[in-house]
Amino acid sequence: MIGEKLQHFNKVLIDCDPGIDDCFALLLAMKHLEVVGITTVGGNTGLVNTSRNACYVTELAKRTDIPVYAGYDKPMFTQLETAEEVHGTTGLGTMQIKEPNKRPEKEHAVDVIIDTFMNHDDILLVTLGPLTNVAQAILKEPRLKKRIPQILCMGGSVTTGNYSPCAEFNIYVDPEAAKIVFDSGIVIKMAGLNFTRQNSMTVQDVQILKDMNNNIAQFAAQLLSFSVNSDRQAELCDACAISWLIDPNIVSCSLPMHVDIETKGEFTRGMTVCDYREYIGTDPKIKNVIVAMEFDQNRFKKLLFDTIKSYGK
Ligand code: BDR
Ligand code: CA
Repeated sequence: MIGEKLQHFNKVLIDCDPGIDDCFALLLAMKHLEVVGITTVGGNTGLVNTSRNACYVTELAKRTDIPVYAGYDKPMFTQLETAEEVHGTTGLGTMQIKEPNKRPEKEHAVDVIIDTFMNHDDILLVTLGPLTNVAQAILKEPRLKKRIPQILCMGGSVTTGNYSPCAEFNIYVDPEAAKIVFDSGIVIKMAGLNFTRQNSMTVQDVQILKDMNNNIAQFAAQLLSFSVNSDRQAELCDACAISWLIDPNIVSCSLPMHVDIETKGEFTRGMTVCDYREYIGTDPKIKNVIVAMEFDQNRFKKLLFDTIKSYGK
């Protein structure tokens, strides 16, 4: 059973495309987990911005000890689709930031993913963006399929998507990469939109951040106000995903399923096809994914606000 293979990890390598909600996820991770590195990918905005934003957040959090490595700037077979209407042209809403002094390291993200998992057994891979870097790493070093113990993936959905009716953004941007990762045999915990949609941040939440007297909270307030003032629900998807690792009770129900990635469909490209038909007595193929289903929003918001407040101490 896939659930039996699940171990708990405190050390993480985070592959991401910051992005407003990626920034919130990084702020949570840097306080509660041992972040051994951050790898960046083109996604919400181009790689130059996602790398710069990752450096900026680590610098702001006084965690310049965490190395940032840039990876691929576009998907395996298609042009990059960005989400600048959701995250702003630079990935940080309309914020103008001072260029960070910190720069990405010289190693490529793919080589770092390979080195990390070929040489360590106690690190979990977190993916908060398109799966391009991870798929390229698996293609370059196929033994990773047996070496990466677990992936926590923000991506996909059991129900509807956001980029399209069927597809969630991270999977839609590079479905071929997602297919390589989901078919790899690596245990995946999927925090998809069906789960993150159970969170909704509000203008009151922005005010709570503004009232905190620390520069991380002011940064977070500016980012969040861009999100809550858009026409969309401000879910902070990536932060919801990483909270599952920090406090497993935030996920009150998860189910093992077989998940396939649709790469061809006329209307369904990028869909996570989630098979949990046991209720009609049809046993799906091998269950390769544990899917988050139910979310404790109050518990998540408490974790988020307590964490951001703690940056001021
Ligand atoms: C995901 O897509 C991106 O826009 C967010 O950063 C998140 O990772 C949500 O669909
Ligand atoms: Ca993201």
